[in-house]
Amino acid sequence: MWGAFLRGTTARGAVCALAAAPLAAVTIGQRPRQSPKPLTDPARALTRSVVRCDDGVQLINVSVPAQKTDTEFSRILVTGGAGFLGSHLCRRLLAQGHEVMCLDNYFTSARSNISDLVGHPRFEFIRHDVTEPFFCECDFVYNMACPASPVHYQFNPIKTTKVSVLGTMNMLGLAKRVKARILQASTSEIYGDPEISPQVESYWGHVNTIGVRSCYDEGKRVAETLCFDYMRMHNVDIRLARIFNTYGPGMHPYDGRVVTNFIMQALKDEDITLYGDGSQTRSFCFVDDTVEGLIRLMNQEETTGPINIGNTNEFTVKELAEVVISVVGSKSKLVYLPLPGDDPKQRRPDITRAKKYLDWEPQVQLREGIGKTVEYFKSLDLRKYKQPTSHTAHKTSEDDVKRRISSGMNGGN
Ligand SMILES: NC(=O)c1ccc[n+]([C@@H]2O[C@H](COP(=O)([O-])OP(=O)(O)OC[C@H]3O[C@@H](n4cnc5c(N)ncnc54)[C@H](O)[C@@H]3O)[C@@H](O)[C@H]2O)c1
Repeated sequence: MWGAFLRGTTARGAVCALAAAPLAAVTIGQRPRQSPKPLTDPARALTRSVVRCDDGVQLINVSVPAQKTDTEFSRILVTGGAGFLGSHLCRRLLAQGHEVMCLDNYFTSARSNISDLVGHPRFEFIRHDVTEPFFCECDFVYNMACPASPVHYQFNPIKTTKVSVLGTMNMLGLAKRVKARILQASTSEIYGDPEISPQVESYWGHVNTIGVRSCYDEGKRVAETLCFDYMRMHNVDIRLARIFNTYGPGMHPYDGRVVTNFIMQALKDEDITLYGDGSQTRSFCFVDDTVEGLIRLMNQEETTGPINIGNTNEFTVKELAEVVISVVGSKSKLVYLPLPGDDPKQRRPDITRAKKYLDWEPQVQLREGIGKTVEYFKSLDLRKYKQPTSHTAHKTSEDDVKRRISSGMNGGN
């Protein structure tokens, strides 16, 4: 059987999974397609492949779309495409000549994020919730939909888990049905509060299952599990990116993430709030670098991942505050507040695999990236952005409040 398996001649769909080290990166060895029928659409042609773990353990025989070059036209679905990372991704994919379907329910984003894309002849917006099944013809799926900042994902933690679990299952089902390749946007949060630094992909993590961040961390962990089970059971062609803290233009000014908070506070000369003593570390990756890493991971044929996508330069949160104050030229002072629940003490990716398989590493340094982000925040008309409320992640904006007060609408039943 193993001879046939290694030659890629086992029946498509047959699952020959052996016990393998969980979370080990899986590499894919290409085999020529063996179907006698000519396929009219090269994007959907299948290539017989043998997948194996880095440690050499055989996993499964899968079929993957034939290799495509960056210049080929593809139909690409980006879930969460109106969000921070998703909107940058949509722009890059359109610039590469692809047809982009952006699926989003605007839970944490707004039409204004993608207003420059609406009307583009190769761009289509689909308002839909990923927790409901969805089908369309496509060659690639970037599954980015999920509230990503604590203020958003803790607003409705049950829904957050559903987005990661049901949403990912729905997208894997779609990828299975139309034989699309799917990239799952996982996160460094799956490592929890890590006991090792830097975090390598083979590290299993140190995560609280019952804390206030668990809806996000554990949801994303299950999403990873689902990806690998769909690959083992149904030959779905997966790619798994573990994204570390990413920042840049396009972030929501009220997303509550540390870079956003500090820049907003510095621009208003308000006190900059540090949680704990500010000695917890983070590595900050500029959005252009992250998007480049995601596209490279999707387009290569060697590995499914998981692959860490992040910047290896580690800064304490206090150092970040000082960089922001200096770039903005702000008069803000640092103030210290108690640490929120399960806040990880350190975060730094090992990107050896990204360098090896994607020939990728971040290019933009923190000061330069913060400069671009500050310019973006300065250009915003904040009245157009909604702040988190107890009702929805971003229900009311300053504009809405003023309008309601002046029209006597406030305080209704
Ligand atoms: N930005 C980062 O630093 C970072 C780090 C690690 C992982 N990620 C992952 O990358 C992805 C994008 O993150 P982001 O920073 O752009 O966040 P974001 O909140 O800006 O974007 C998420 C998008 O998903 C949409 N969405 C949420 N729930 C949905 C649902 N049920 N159906 C359809 N759309 C829905 C939101 O409306 C939003 O447009 C997320 O999956 C996140 O977990 C981001």
